[in-house]
Amino acid sequence: MKKKIIFSGIQPTGILTIGNYIGALSQWKKLQKKYFCIYCIADLHALTNYHKKSILNNNILNTLSLFLASGINPEKSIIFIQSHVPQHTQLCWILNCFTNFSIMKRMIQFKEKINSNKNVNMGLFNYPILMAADILLYQTYKVPVGKDQIQHIELVRDIACKFNNFYGEKIFKIPEKKMNKNFGSCIMSLLNPMKKMSKSDKNKNNIITLFDDDIIIRKKIKSAVTDSNNPPKIVFDLKNKPGISNLLIILSNITKIPIEKLEFRFKNKNYNDFKESVVYNLCLFLNKLRKKYYFYRKNEELLKNIINNGSKKAKKYAKITLKKVHNVIGLK
Ligand code: TYM
Repeated sequence: MKKKIIFSGIQPTGILTIGNYIGALSQWKKLQKKYFCIYCIADLHALTNYHKKSILNNNILNTLSLFLASGINPEKSIIFIQSHVPQHTQLCWILNCFTNFSIMKRMIQFKEKINSNKNVNMGLFNYPILMAADILLYQTYKVPVGKDQIQHIELVRDIACKFNNFYGEKIFKIPEKKMNKNFGSCIMSLLNPMKKMSKSDKNKNNIITLFDDDIIIRKKIKSAVTDSNNPPKIVFDLKNKPGISNLLIILSNITKIPIEKLEFRFKNKNYNDFKESVVYNLCLFLNKLRKKYYFYRKNEELLKNIINNGSKKAKKYAKITLKKVHNVIGLK
């Protein structure tokens, strides 16, 4: 039986956080067992923040090395660069014409970005429609993402339904979202656990990046907020103990120990003991990940081969869908 298709992407901007890993990369790895997975480095999305040539090139190779270090296997899955498959921008234009302006104005991420960004360009506004093109080109069954992308996936579904209904044909498969089942779909900021951990956060004490060394990790976890108004117990309670719960989610996802077991393990321990364990396990986990990362990162020949092969394979699928779209529209 043909395997169902999983598609997802990450922007090669800056350094990824433990949130990106838990919310996206760790899921991507697991899904390879059951599905045919297609993973994209969304370099065109990254242009919404201006990048110098050498920085963008470098970030693309860094991101690819992280995919490989996280266990994404190019023999099983397609890994490719968005800009290498021109069908993405071609379909994006067509979908622009099927997307209502008033719906786009409601996109939460866009509204947040215009408040914090001096460079409010049209790419930022159109960004979810390019995501729609990414996903719909591959007749995707599920899209593994973090919680911050839910509204975008809903939009993709709306666009696909509208297009299919307009032409009375099932040109696009209607994709579903897929979230981390162990509460990891939204890792929160360390100093403000009511806010998402974001790689673009200006205060770096809010985030754990995949490249933080042991000393930095210790400093950041030690200063993470721990809900001082409550009795100092290590319990999972998202409403009353968001800080401790966030650390429990991180610890559970990197050690694969269920949250209830962790609660039991730290039943008679204090915040300090608990944080020591988070520090220890994060350092262990990230050091292992980085060791694999550097192994791949220094082999640029291998990385370039993976990119070339992946883009060739992705193009084959993308061409089929775009041809169907052109035919049904009358663009022959
Ligand atoms: P990006 O690069 O901002 O984030 C990549 C993935 O990481 C998830 N994520 C988180 N998960 C849990 N906790 C967090 N704190 C956290 N922060 C980020 C995001 O939800 C995402 O899954 N537009 C996308 C990239 C993209 C894409 C696509 C995704 C381009 N085309 C098609 C899916 C399908 C983005 O900017 O993600």
